[in-house]
Amino acid sequence: MRTALKMVLPLIVSVAVVSGLFAWYQVRTEKRNLRSDLARRAEILGEALQESVEPLLERAPDKNLQRLVERFGEREHLKGVAVYDATGKALAITPGIAKEFVNWPDVAKNAAGKDKELDEFAREKRTDPAGNEEVLALHILACPLHRNNESAGALALFHDTSYIDIQVQHTLRDSLLNALVQTLLIAGLALILVRWTFMQPLKRTAHWLRTMRTGSANGAKAPPGLPQGQGEIFDQLHQEVTHLARDLNTARATAEEEARLRETGASLWTAERLRVSLQNKLHETPLFVLSNREPYMHVLNEKDRSISVIVPASGLVTALEPVLLACNGTWVAGGPGSADREVVDANDRLRVPPDHPSYTLRRVWTTDEEDKGFYEGFSNEGLWPLCHIAHTRPMFRPEDWLHYQRINRRFADVVLQEMEGTKSPILLAQDYHFALLPRMVKEARPDARVAIFWHIPWPNPEVFGICPWQRELVDGLLGADLIGFHIQTHCNNFLETVDHALEALTEWDRFAVNRRGHVTRVRPYPISVEFPEYPPTEEEETRNAGAERAEICEELGIEASLLGVGVDRVDYTKGILERFRGIERFLEQYPAFQRRFSLVQIGAPSRTDIERYKNFLDEVTAEAERINAKFHAGRWKPIVLLKRHHSHEEIARYYRAASVCFVTSLHDGMNLVAKEFVASRVDERGVLILSTFAGAALELSDALLVNPYDICQLSEATHSALEMPEAEQAKRMHWMRRAVREHNIYRWAANLISDLTEIRIETNERSEARQPR
Ligand code: G6P
Repeated sequence: MRTALKMVLPLIVSVAVVSGLFAWYQVRTEKRNLRSDLARRAEILGEALQESVEPLLERAPDKNLQRLVERFGEREHLKGVAVYDATGKALAITPGIAKEFVNWPDVAKNAAGKDKELDEFAREKRTDPAGNEEVLALHILACPLHRNNESAGALALFHDTSYIDIQVQHTLRDSLLNALVQTLLIAGLALILVRWTFMQPLKRTAHWLRTMRTGSANGAKAPPGLPQGQGEIFDQLHQEVTHLARDLNTARATAEEEARLRETGASLWTAERLRVSLQNKLHETPLFVLSNREPYMHVLNEKDRSISVIVPASGLVTALEPVLLACNGTWVAGGPGSADREVVDANDRLRVPPDHPSYTLRRVWTTDEEDKGFYEGFSNEGLWPLCHIAHTRPMFRPEDWLHYQRINRRFADVVLQEMEGTKSPILLAQDYHFALLPRMVKEARPDARVAIFWHIPWPNPEVFGICPWQRELVDGLLGADLIGFHIQTHCNNFLETVDHALEALTEWDRFAVNRRGHVTRVRPYPISVEFPEYPPTEEEETRNAGAERAEICEELGIEASLLGVGVDRVDYTKGILERFRGIERFLEQYPAFQRRFSLVQIGAPSRTDIERYKNFLDEVTAEAERINAKFHAGRWKPIVLLKRHHSHEEIARYYRAASVCFVTSLHDGMNLVAKEFVASRVDERGVLILSTFAGAALELSDALLVNPYDICQLSEATHSALEMPEAEQAKRMHWMRRAVREHNIYRWAANLISDLTEIRIETNERSEARQPR
């Protein structure tokens, strides 16, 4: 109460002062009006009297004059009338004032002297008949008198103005009373408002922050009680407090984790450890990451012209975001979003993530025509199918190649511009869109340390040899100091391709290539995801997979007691059709699972401007419909195909509710869905069915490994997964979680960057003589 009072005290004082001033003004106006009203009335009376008195002065003063004076004296507030001769002596006067005004007052003398009507408000002391002293408040109007056009004295009217004083006092009293009531009312209301609108929520927030600080609040939940959507200031405060809480929770969890790791001697990589390690290794040198796909895409909502932010479905984005968050670098990427240009500054930069800006995103613009050649054509109709053995024929068009070269040049120029002023910068370029870029950057900045990570498989030399520009691509890549692949087989395939395509010294013993004196290391770095290290929040602990499944079924309008989940971009390399057919076979083989098991397939439409992808989306839809038509019964159907982009949070719900997750890629560099599923199963339940053709199969050997082309094997694996005893699930999941936890994204980044920083860079390229590390 005292705090609220303190908060509203300035308001009370202000209201009191304003009301007081207002009362004073009212009184002044009232007094002025009453006085001018009286003066006006006196003037009219004076003029009338003047007209009557002057004819009487023509002869010697007689009783008529005294009678006239007495008659006029009987009016409201008129105290008396006096007629003075030119010497100031009263010729006739109202008896009540005869004692005080037997001689004319100054104002009458002046009126006669100046020959003009004058008036004044005056106070006159007098002694009443009982001998008491009193003060007369008067208004005196004096009019000059004439006889034969000569000044003959003055006429004076004396009005009693004490009624004005009384009235003004009443008005003052009323106004002050009013002001007091107003002040009390406003202050009371303000107190109530402050208490309910500010004090209560702030008190609850303060209490919540205290329990958070002392470690008894749970998770990074939003603070209670701050009214949201009730004005910008509360929204901002709510946001800031939420972020503060999250940061505090993260910092505490990190510190606890670090302490625990030190205690157990374990060597887990965390965001904090990566940050410290990068600081030591990079010595303030900023990190540059470059990719075609941006981590945040701004899109314009045509309906209400609002802008929303999307995190694109991309394994690359999933993996790199935590690294950038840990080390505040610059991410250079394309900007295909419809509102991407609207949110950048004059240098095409912005800070992201939007709700917790931690690093810089620099956008690079390309035209639709350039995209068609560079992105759709060369990258995704050429290199993508070339590198994935998924039996879609690669297309290599000379015009696409021109665009590919041009866009590689543009991105290289942008990253060089961003590197200006940075000594020995570090660049992590990403993926098959930028095979030419490492050499371009290195030629302009020999002091830069350049690595490129190839997120997709690298095929054998015969397959890669299909590409008419294989020499240029391989040569461009060899501009890098370090080339990373997910697995050793891809490194081997690359080295063999170099042998086939170029004149270069391939050093198999140390997995390096020496081309014209520049050495490029080639190493496997199995990419991964973040693994939540923090103890589960209360919400996570009490969450119930069964309840979540029931909720999801309700939302989807289906009835099923067992859920499977598949999460993919709709891409022909992901084995989605094979997965559907496997499930068809499973339901035929094990009809007891009909009406019980449904697969929720989250399919983010991808690269839909490319004919093959558009057709594939249709094929996937048709296949799901065919199978559903075959089995569908009541509210149950075998496949629920959700053809839209889903956020990480939405996907996490499906992961948690599923009994089995399907990753059936026909060929995949790594596949992070497999690792995400494992990382999200805090409950150590659920089974992963994983294609042997995905890089992840090497690390996640406790999954049920399948050949996705073998529909019978898929069917059997689904059956085993759904029948697997809980203990077995827990054992497998435990080991898989351990693998992902130990080989998380921070370890990936630490290894890659550490290897890169340990390479000796000689700007005059004499590295043939160097010894392997
Ligand atoms: C793969 C590639 C990434 C790419 C992602 C999504 O994971 O390795 O470079 O970003 O697919 O594809 P998109 O063409 O939509 O970027």
